[in-house]
Amino acid sequence: MRMTDLIAKKRDGGELSTEEIRFAVEEYVRGKIADYQMSAMCMAILFRGMTDRETLDLTMAMMHSGDVIDLSAIKGIKADKHSTGGVGDKTSLILCPMVAACGLRIAKMSGRGLGHTGGTLDKLESFSGYNISIGEKRFIDNVNNIGLSLIGQTADIVPADKKLYALRDVTATVPSIPLIVSSIMSKKLASGADVIVLDVKCGDGAFMKTEKQAQELARGLTRIGRLAGKKCAAVITDMEQPLGHAVGNALEVKEAISVLRGETKGDLLELCLTLGGCMLTEAGFAANMEAARKMLQEAIDSGAALDKLAQLVGAQDGDAQAVYDTSRLPLAPVQLEVPSEVSGYLSHIECEKVGLISMHLGGGRATKEDKIDLSVGLVLNKKVGDHVEIGESLGTIHAQTMESAQQAAQLLRDCCRILDWPVERPKLIKAIIR
Ligand code: URA
Repeated sequence: MRMTDLIAKKRDGGELSTEEIRFAVEEYVRGKIADYQMSAMCMAILFRGMTDRETLDLTMAMMHSGDVIDLSAIKGIKADKHSTGGVGDKTSLILCPMVAACGLRIAKMSGRGLGHTGGTLDKLESFSGYNISIGEKRFIDNVNNIGLSLIGQTADIVPADKKLYALRDVTATVPSIPLIVSSIMSKKLASGADVIVLDVKCGDGAFMKTEKQAQELARGLTRIGRLAGKKCAAVITDMEQPLGHAVGNALEVKEAISVLRGETKGDLLELCLTLGGCMLTEAGFAANMEAARKMLQEAIDSGAALDKLAQLVGAQDGDAQAVYDTSRLPLAPVQLEVPSEVSGYLSHIECEKVGLISMHLGGGRATKEDKIDLSVGLVLNKKVGDHVEIGESLGTIHAQTMESAQQAAQLLRDCCRILDWPVERPKLIKAIIR
């Protein structure tokens, strides 16, 4: 088989066979196919697309390029969730304990934050001592004993994606639905869960800018998940403004705890109830979304979901007491309110820029090696659609120095567009694909 022939076939609109796709992936990972040839193939796929059969074959070939996690030692149904990434997205910290309190098993490998988006592992490390590398045996034991575990990636999962994603990034071939679907689903399938729920973000702060693109991606992801034998659902959600109010690691943990305590409602809780509802219904734990939401709400009202978070933190060597006493979490030395300079209605918050403010305060990484400050970030006081009075606080900056706080305050003001007339609040849940 020659890669040149496969590139030509796809260029001319042909359908690649299972063997041809496997050959291209395997030989590329072995270094036998050059980057320039794989670049041409990615571009041909971007223009010509792939059938579901081809996308599934590509996903499976990528999945088998590395380790596939065996979760069979865990009793019960295992669920996983994936978000395409957003600002202030702390849903895993709420959703995982909440569904685990309802009896679903969560054995999850999470990532660190990079650029303007945060990562669950960094947030969890806000709990002093939290260990993300507990090894496979403790990971499995913890899920069997308490129902959940969240760790960093241990095994060498989908090396094909690491190589391919880096190549796509520099060859303008990232925005191809079959390539995105195979990249995301190969990693999710390699992680071993039975139920996969995907949060596809849509808007200014997201990878998919329009609802049409997000719909196409969500349908592609769920189709491939199902073809691979998994229970799969996707929720398309708004990312025109940060999710919830807090952006920054320990600040987001505090907000998540407040939701689990039943003190904070709004968009963040709504998203967790929707994603959790999809998980419980797909797993067969609830007959419909209404019943599932009731179970999840009860887990909050009874304190079971909050206790589950404390159990998770304690089982991974972290300060579980901080779940009940958040003054034990990191706190930045400077807090600065950001008064609005005008009155009106908040019509837009530049989501990506808000993420960058937190990053520049020290809360995020520009490169993988950067050390981050868990205490810094910002807490928004207003959401899109809210009325703002002149002098009223738009949010609070948490910083190491007054100088960095003042710079961040001006940037936050620049991110907020305020109009004289009322604006509609954006709809958080745009669609559920199942
Ligand atoms: N996220 C991924 O993991 N892969 C893509 O291709 C795009 C977003």
